[in-house]
Amino acid sequence: DRILVIHGPNLNLLGMREPEIYGSETLLDINRKLTGIAKKGSADIAFFQSNAESRLVDRIQEAMTDGTSFIIINPAAYTHTSIAMRDALAATRLPFIEIHLSNIFSRETFRHHSYFSDMALGVISGLGSKGYELALEYALTVRR
Ligand code: DQA
Repeated sequence: DRILVIHGPNLNLLGMREPEIYGSETLLDINRKLTGIAKKGSADIAFFQSNAESRLVDRIQEAMTDGTSFIIINPAAYTHTSIAMRDALAATRLPFIEIHLSNIFSRETFRHHSYFSDMALGVISGLGSKGYELALEYALTVRR
């Protein structure tokens, strides 16, 4: 019974990357906060970030056999392009919440479409790193 948090491409740069859009917190800051929330809920949490689509697909596939019961994912730019990651998530049959730090609907039109949203349990977009925390709190309430 584990919650898996997946961060897509360029999210390793959080804190330095367009902070007016993505905030000043680093990925480590966010993961640390999530670790604290998981600990309080005595939940097992794992984190994965990659800039490579194939590594993200591989990690999602691993969730089928590593005890993962819930996924929180920010596919970043692959949100708008990756049928491969979508198919991997579908294969897991696991519930997931899609996160975006920014409000993708208030930005360029190419960000308005997501290959994930119709399959997601829910989508949080525009609440910054708080979105991850809210998703985790939700995951803790539905945990098996
Ligand atoms: C993002 C939004 C995407 O459009 C963008 O490519 C990202 C981050 C977000 O968290 O707001 O890299 O997923």
